Amino acid sequence: MKMTLTSLAVGLLLAGPAVYAQGPRNEPVQPIPAAEVSDAAMAELGKKLFFDPRLSRSGFISCNSCHNLSMGGTDNLKTSIGHNWQQGPINSPTVLNSSLNLAQFWDGRAADLKEQAGGPIANPGEMAFTHELAIGVLQSIPGYVSEFETVFGQSELDIDMVTDAIAAFEETLVTPDSPFDQWLKGDDNALSAQALAGYQLFKQSGCVACHNGPNLGGTSFQKMGVVEPYQSDSDAIGRAAVTGKDADRFTFKVPTLRNVELTYPYFHDGEAATLEEAVDIMGRLQLGRVYSNQEVSQIVAFLKSLTGEQPRFELPILPPSTNQTPAPEPFG
Ligand code: HEC
Ligand code: HEC
Repeated sequence: MKMTLTSLAVGLLLAGPAVYAQGPRNEPVQPIPAAEVSDAAMAELGKKLFFDPRLSRSGFISCNSCHNLSMGGTDNLKTSIGHNWQQGPINSPTVLNSSLNLAQFWDGRAADLKEQAGGPIANPGEMAFTHELAIGVLQSIPGYVSEFETVFGQSELDIDMVTDAIAAFEETLVTPDSPFDQWLKGDDNALSAQALAGYQLFKQSGCVACHNGPNLGGTSFQKMGVVEPYQSDSDAIGRAAVTGKDADRFTFKVPTLRNVELTYPYFHDGEAATLEEAVDIMGRLQLGRVYSNQEVSQIVAFLKSLTGEQPRFELPILPPSTNQTPAPEPFG
């Protein structure tokens, strides 16, 4: 009986369309694994905090304001808008799949998501609050205090708990199962001929030297303008701001190309409005190669096949403020 079932299974695999039958392909890019949620209660609390504008001085700006999960985890602006409508200095990168990056921020100045999450709350150009004031607000809301107590076993809140919870939520923000991932797993029909030609070009012309791994990026810091210098009005100097080394000027964390169809505009200064423009610039500045319009279209078709399943969840309902909660200062 057992033998028959096994031979039947093998027979089906051989006869049917070769979906997944040949296993993962040997490519410099790997499929994104689905999120493994180790602590669902902590991730749930982190989701509330991610959406809570009361972590900002104005009571109006949340993480989701600049990393909108309805728009690929970005704000789709050249540079972000901070407290008091301040013009931000740099483009907001996506939070989707950011747990797969070797470090956080364009210059990698935060080692991981937990270290990153404390930054924007206290950044005067972003949420313009302090960690103490943010904790004061959360501590005045009984709905939060009891949830923190359940998750951390402690009703005295601190910023470490807040950043742990936000990081736990962000780790769930992965986007598996894009058409390209289906192709990587063996489904020959998952990509159009145009997208497949674009991937071959992406590999053969050397894009993959920098955009590799499951995130097609996030594995190294690289110079922007290898063959030809990049002209920008932005003050950002890249990795040199962290290392102090002149050699690291205009070196940035290679951004992920996952969901890049959703995360326009492109580059750290947001100056490339379209994918076509970004691909053309990358070809010329990084590889010294001028692509034809047809080649650009092929690479863009490939890049669009990197849009994965977006995180799906219920919009969190936040516990209400109380008479003790300090009032927001939207115009201060
Ligand atoms: C006012 C807009 C704004 C707000 C609010 C904001 N961010 Fe960001 N975020 C940015 C910008 C801009 C960057 C890039 C800064 C840099 O690299 O110097 C960034 C970078 C990041 C990164 C790094 C991603 C990567 O690949 O390098 C993560 C993660 C992140 N933010 C999460 C958060 C979280 C969590 C919050 C809420 C606590 C938050 N952000 C609030 C604009 C914002
Ligand atoms: C030498 C390393 C390197 C090579 C080769 C390279 N890139 Fe990049 N790529 C980068 C870096 C670094 C950035 C960020 C530059 C910046 O923001 O100033 C980037 C940014 C991008 C972006 C914008 C992503 C975003 O979210 O802003 C796209 C799209 C892109 N590259 C596609 C490509 C393509 C297509 C090729 C091949 C033609 C390629 N890259 C070759 C390093 C490289």
